Amino acid sequence: MGILDKHKAIETNATLLLILSFLVVTIGGLVQIVPLFYLDNTIEKVEGVRPYSPLELAGRDIYIREGCYVCHSQMIRPMRDEVERYGHYSLAAESMYDHPFQWGSKRTGPDLARVGGRYSDEWHVDHLRNPQSVVPESVMPKYGFLERKMIEGEYIQDLMKTHKFVGVPYTDEMIEAGRDDFMAQADPDSDYDALLERYPGAQVRNFDAQPGISEADALIAYLQILGTMVDFSTFEPDASR
Ligand code: HEC
Repeated sequence: MGILDKHKAIETNATLLLILSFLVVTIGGLVQIVPLFYLDNTIEKVEGVRPYSPLELAGRDIYIREGCYVCHSQMIRPMRDEVERYGHYSLAAESMYDHPFQWGSKRTGPDLARVGGRYSDEWHVDHLRNPQSVVPESVMPKYGFLERKMIEGEYIQDLMKTHKFVGVPYTDEMIEAGRDDFMAQADPDSDYDALLERYPGAQVRNFDAQPGISEADALIAYLQILGTMVDFSTFEPDASR
């Protein structure tokens, strides 16, 4: 009996075909799933990715509170049209400290995974205040109230502790300095060397150009860091995995 005849025997016997198909799928499934139980981590570490600074973390909380994720995704898929529009496709490591992740499921507005550095702070202030003033056809709501809501970071250390609890590697020192770092990042006249040591690449500015720290400061600090932690001019995917 040739190999084709053997195959014919399988193809003409529905029960046998079903049983053998089931076996193949089971083995294939096990080969994929079982190794995952023996790995501590399925996310490849990438240089540059760090936990959010206290001010960025506060901004991220405002992003979630205001439901920005309802209209914006933060996940660039590895497809040509996306990469051409938004930049390098998102790496798993880039959202490893995001709890919960902000990949989103709907794009009423553009993806924001790499919006950091794309616009000036001033643009963001104008856009949040009145999106239609910069993009006349925009359906994005106005968020001008954020720049009038002052914040002092009184809960920032608790927020950091919560993130540490779910796996973000904030050290005791980072949490201890949480409130000072929060203040320092929004004040270019502050002594922010220690902040930069703890959070390399953190941008220190008065983001909304008004006195005091507002929710707009925190939100813009967050938007401006999005997608900028990894240097894609030197990044190489790890081919060994
Ligand atoms: C009802 C849907 C909706 C919500 C909610 C929303 N946006 Fe938007 N957003 C849009 C649309 C549509 C655009 C594209 C037009 C424009 O730039 O205004 C946009 C554009 C943007 C852009 C410019 C992106 C780019 O690459 O040009 C940023 C930044 C942004 N939104 C941030 C936010 C933030 C932060 C929040 C929450 C405080 C938010 N959006 C909430 C719909 C929304």
